[in-house]
Amino acid sequence: MNPLNHVAIIMDGNGRWGIKHKKSRNAGHKAGLKVVEKIIKETIKNKIKYLTLYAFSTENWKRPKKEVNYLFSLLENFLINKIEALHKQKIKLKIIGFKKFPKKLNNLLIQSEKKTFQNKQLQINLALNYGSKTEIINAIKGIYKNKNKINEENFKKYLLTKNIPDPDILIRTGDTNRLSNFLLWQLAYSEIFFVKKLWPAFNEKDYNKIIKKYKNIKRNFGSI
Ligand code: IPE
Ligand code: IPE
Ligand code: MG
Repeated sequence: MNPLNHVAIIMDGNGRWGIKHKKSRNAGHKAGLKVVEKIIKETIKNKIKYLTLYAFSTENWKRPKKEVNYLFSLLENFLINKIEALHKQKIKLKIIGFKKFPKKLNNLLIQSEKKTFQNKQLQINLALNYGSKTEIINAIKGIYKNKNKINEENFKKYLLTKNIPDPDILIRTGDTNRLSNFLLWQLAYSEIFFVKKLWPAFNEKDYNKIIKKYKNIKRNFGSI
């Protein structure tokens, strides 16, 4: 059975779910957040050490301001109301992405990271204003500036995922089969699961089915 250390998720389909069920995209985002909480609990139950959640891409700024602001306000309220509970469950929160948000949110993110820094039960990497291409360009600039030798080992140290093992599993919900600029380097050998369900409809049972399937996959890493 394959060991499982790291699950990454592209939580796609909130907007479509909202339109279908409540007639607004933002209602879908709200429902999606409830699923995030369920999946965090299930991740701990499964003794998985890293969970990376794609919450906002560098491309998502193209959305209407009203939607972007709603997403940020959801996250703000989530942190204000839930960070204590996350901390009690020994969850470490790390932001991967470029912290260029409204000041209040920026500060909240930094405080939440600081507060939970020592926690060891589960590390949640929240990909926020994250884009893989920018991450890779920045890594190249860093390596060049410091005159480091260019090899895999050194390159990894300049990524936002420094010290985080590569995902074993990538899940994308929402019936869309693409990576959308997510962890292009880190997903090189991940097992990928595309799920038809929209994110707010995804549940623990779906999650556990994927985990079970993953555990029995023959992972070759180029060997036989
Ligand atoms: C993903 O759901 C969540 C974010 C990008 C924040 P979408 O908002 O992309 O939902 P669809 O794909 O439009 O249904
Ligand atoms: C990817 O979903 C980003 C997140 C889930 C945060 P998108 O809905 O933004 O992806 P595209 O634009 O359809 O590829
Ligand atoms: Mg989408």
